[in-house]
Amino acid sequence: MAPALEVQGVENVSQNNGLNNVDDVTNRSKVTVIGSGNWGSVASKLIASNTIRMNNFHDEVRMWVYEETLPSGEKLTDVINQTNENVKYLPGIKLGKNVVADPDLENAVRDANMLVFVTPHQFMEGICKRIAGKIRADAEAISLVKGMEVKMEGPCMISTLISEELGINCSVLMGANIANEIAVEKFSEATVGYRQNREAAERWVHLFYTPYFIVTAVQDVEGVELCGTLKNVVAIAAGFVDGLEMGNNTKAAIMRLGLREMKAFSKLLFPSVKDSTFFESCGVADLITTCLGGRNRKVAEAYAKNGGKRSFDELEAEMLQGQKLQTYFEVSLPMITLIFDVAIEMVPFVIG
Ligand SMILES: NC(=O)c1ccc[n+]([C@@H]2O[C@H](COP(=O)([O-])OP(=O)(O)OC[C@H]3O[C@@H](n4cnc5c(N)ncnc54)[C@H](O)[C@@H]3O)[C@@H](O)[C@H]2O)c1
Repeated sequence: MAPALEVQGVENVSQNNGLNNVDDVTNRSKVTVIGSGNWGSVASKLIASNTIRMNNFHDEVRMWVYEETLPSGEKLTDVINQTNENVKYLPGIKLGKNVVADPDLENAVRDANMLVFVTPHQFMEGICKRIAGKIRADAEAISLVKGMEVKMEGPCMISTLISEELGINCSVLMGANIANEIAVEKFSEATVGYRQNREAAERWVHLFYTPYFIVTAVQDVEGVELCGTLKNVVAIAAGFVDGLEMGNNTKAAIMRLGLREMKAFSKLLFPSVKDSTFFESCGVADLITTCLGGRNRKVAEAYAKNGGKRSFDELEAEMLQGQKLQTYFEVSLPMITLIFDVAIEMVPFVIG
């Protein structure tokens, strides 16, 4: 079993980032970030601060932007490139002059050999289908997306979706990472989960690692990804506890029981998932921060305070201003879901 990779300092990073021929310009890695929401923008900022000072990477970080027209009538992409700021999803933070916003998805990925996926999970399948066959043959991916798809054939992790649709290796990066805190360079940790390719994992660690963002890699891609996905379910329960003013002891109990069930469920889906992964940043630390400060908790609290009379969709639109709830499953089992709702949840059954 390969030990966890740990990078101890930035000096170490700049001397060896997993590439052999660092002087050869043609060997420089080119990074594209696919997504420019709150976390996508912060990830671009983090990455850009590293690519600009390391010889092994091209300075430029291309960031694909799902184009939007701002209330001013301007295009979001134009404003990002003029002001170096994502005024909608990360106002007040400079991304770095080497971040280039690009609204053309195919153009944004064409030259990159390191693809960072960071959009809400529900858009991932469509994005992969659009770029399939249009990326470099030597490209590698990492997913920062939290969520999974549950289809008739069974659950599909986002990293698997990327690997299967694009035919490339995909690692994941998850952790106690509330984007707005990392944007102002408050200290946090993250976990890279990789399948077999340790060298690729090393490159990802070096791409993200900064003195305020400590990255560790573990060989357990499913475990890391499931932690990042399932904690969003527990955070909804934590929000209910807050909305019903049940107190800190109850919330701690929800977190403990939630972690236990996250582990049981993960191992049921993938017996290879390691116990130790739940003690990495992607496990217990992400669970705690999401139950204290995440957007799922916030909206669930409002839902409970309103006695369940306002829907999650309505509260999401009102409270998150275009950001998305970090939903955990995209379920395409409408009949089974309906049977569950009616039989177990006792939701009134209305025809028409
Ligand atoms: N924000 C955080 O603190 C945080 C931290 C860790 C992980 N994540 C994860 O990162 C992922 C991205 O979250 P985020 O916070 O960057 O996004 P966000 O919720 O802030 O923003 C939503 C994004 O989706 C884009 N979008 C809207 N419609 C679209 C469409 N049809 N197709 C493609 N894109 C569309 C918007 O332009 C915007 O960039 C999610 O999986 C989330 O769970 C977020």
